[in-house]
Amino acid sequence: MQVPVPGLFLQELKMRNSIEEIASSYVQLKRSGRGLVGLCPFHNERTPSFHLYPETGSFYCFGCGAGGDVISFVRRIENLDYMEAVKFLADRVGMQLPELGVDDSMMRLRARILEINRETARFYHRILKSPGGKTGLAYFLQRGLQPGTITHFGLGFAPDTRFALVNHLQGMGYTDQEMIQANVAVKTRAGMPMDRFYNRVMFPIIDLRGNVIAFGGRTMTDQKPKYLNTSDTLAFKKSYGLFALNFAKNSGKEQLILAEGYMDVIALHQAGFDNAIAGLGTALTTEQAHLIARYTKEVVIAYDADQAGQKATARAIELLRSVGLLVKVLSVPNGKDPDEFIRSYGEQGPARFKQLLEQSGNDVEYRLRQLQADCDLESPAGKVQYLNGAAELLSQLDNRMEQEIYAGRLSEETGIDRAAVMVQIDKLSKKRRQSQQKKEFRQFQQETVGLKDRVNPDKREHFRAANAEEALIAYLFQNNDMAERIRAKLPPEQFCTAFNRRVYECITDKMKSGLQVGLTDISDVFSMEELSAVAGILAKHNSVAVGQNDAEEYIHVILEEKTKLNADDAKQAQAQEIQDYLARLKEQKK
Ligand code: UTP
Ligand code: MN
Repeated sequence: MQVPVPGLFLQELKMRNSIEEIASSYVQLKRSGRGLVGLCPFHNERTPSFHLYPETGSFYCFGCGAGGDVISFVRRIENLDYMEAVKFLADRVGMQLPELGVDDSMMRLRARILEINRETARFYHRILKSPGGKTGLAYFLQRGLQPGTITHFGLGFAPDTRFALVNHLQGMGYTDQEMIQANVAVKTRAGMPMDRFYNRVMFPIIDLRGNVIAFGGRTMTDQKPKYLNTSDTLAFKKSYGLFALNFAKNSGKEQLILAEGYMDVIALHQAGFDNAIAGLGTALTTEQAHLIARYTKEVVIAYDADQAGQKATARAIELLRSVGLLVKVLSVPNGKDPDEFIRSYGEQGPARFKQLLEQSGNDVEYRLRQLQADCDLESPAGKVQYLNGAAELLSQLDNRMEQEIYAGRLSEETGIDRAAVMVQIDKLSKKRRQSQQKKEFRQFQQETVGLKDRVNPDKREHFRAANAEEALIAYLFQNNDMAERIRAKLPPEQFCTAFNRRVYECITDKMKSGLQVGLTDISDVFSMEELSAVAGILAKHNSVAVGQNDAEEYIHVILEEKTKLNADDAKQAQAQEIQDYLARLKEQKK
């Protein structure tokens, strides 16, 4: 559990960081009634179920159940822990964090790692530009990089020694442990730290806040591995990172170009395509797709033309589409990667690549072409295979017109009537929609019946009571001034479900102080999942106007259910007593 942050500080923090403002910088929101809606940044969806309620300072996604206040939002979206999120918001508005006496050793270590990374990047960059970095510099120049590009990306050289960096960092006061935690050094068998990277050209990876979070180091020979990368550390998670997004996000272009490698991205930027990014050597992840979707609506995939690249393309298409992005695919001819392609045309490189970019088809065309390549259109069986696959593909499109256009093209290619193709597509779309609806309905059913309520497992048995409790909690959040009177009538012990009892007790306690209590004020006492549940309660009751009479009715229901529960308990206790009595009798008979 978290050491509580002073209430007044939190009050000011949430006042100065409106959830509407923060969330809008990550999610496109539209007004809807008293709130706002948009596509949820925490799960893949195409129809918006993410709701924001400025009045209560909360958000809730009816699709995935993520919810909470402004702090939870930042925690989730920036992948921070509670204190880091508080600090993030405080920094944003220039507030000084109060002295808490908390154990912030993790936060301090993370900060140290970031310092070490920055210092390491500087060190390697300095060496690259010194006589000791001759081989590295020669390598970069031979690969066509201009000096300005090398500086822009902060590229470096790790010399062919084992202790250059370690000695340097030791001299600056960093401990062995810190260097190892930063993964710029590894422990030798003798237990000493040794440079992790040597005789490699270095690519620093920089996050959106300008921190150096990791490195990729390339060998200049054909040694394996070609690239050695920083492993996950306290300050770095590979599956979240994107290379050069720090530059690309400011490019002002309508699309982002997603390449496979560091060198591709750098060559593209040098050629004027400063909207190019890449993953960090792993297959594209959901987290990366979400991150990309925050900065653009359209992605052009420009992976290598080899087989691995094509496989990765298919996967990336799916993932990027699923977060609502428009996806195009660029094919680099002759089995080259974008870097090789541009370089092979010399001065003409940028113009040539621009052509490719303009020719890049959308992913439907790409996928149809792939499908076609696998089928023998000369044979009837091949035609059927192609048509079935294509209809399946086209049935996934939301756009009717698009479907018609491709159906026309299929008809030309195969000689099958266009209307017949459309019938097949419609059949499949309908099937897909139905199974989707069924799935959603099941989910909805399970949630409303409380079957899936992990946070409040008691709800399942005490459904009527739990609903009244939740309605009352929602009422209290909107009517803080009623807290004292309600609490007098209904002590927390009367609640039937443990989780709701905890929420009720906590908020009515806090409301006593006279401060306006919202989700933020309880955000340090409840876990992310619990806060989501509370946000869900608020969201579900948001559009219902509730008066004092209703509140009385809720209290009545809760007390009534509690009486029943007590009676049940008494019965059970009696039954238990009788059983115990019988058991004792049996014992005596023996
Ligand atoms: P590539 O080999 O296509 O990268 O691997 P590249 O940038 O074109 O490399 P050059 O042109 O040969 O210098 C794609 C990406 O996969 C990761 C790196 O992120 C690389 O940029 N990778 C590749 C590794 O992490 N380790 C490896 O051993 C190889
Ligand atoms: Mn390459």
